[in-house]
Amino acid sequence: MAHLVDDKCIMCKHTTCVEVCPVDCFYEGPNMLVINPDECIDCGVCIPECPEEAIYQTDDVNDKWYKHNEYFANEWPNITEAKDPMPEYEQYSNSSEDKTKLFKAK
Ligand code: SF4
Ligand code: F3S
Repeated sequence: MAHLVDDKCIMCKHTTCVEVCPVDCFYEGPNMLVINPDECIDCGVCIPECPEEAIYQTDDVNDKWYKHNEYFANEWPNITEAKDPMPEYEQYSNSSEDKTKLFKAK
């Protein structure tokens, strides 16, 4: 079981999610955050904190976002304090399109 961040976070990065995580398992990339599924304790308190509804729970380790979150959690720095969202977030907020193509690894 794990909680994961998906493409709805891309270009928004509200970061309100990181403030509530009891085990500080969010990691920050250039235009999205990920959760380390090995550190997440599945408390679920981050889900309602995300205005983009980018956080969800799954049992499926083959889920599209599982390896993505796991991999980048080990590449990017930990983030524990909220900061301003991305400057262009309003343009990308609540988008129904798949934002995966906008993802930046570094
Ligand atoms: Fe952190 Fe809980 Fe969200 Fe997991 S479910 S990322 S432990 S707040
Ligand atoms: Fe991203 Fe939502 Fe957190 S947009 S940074 S998962 S509050």
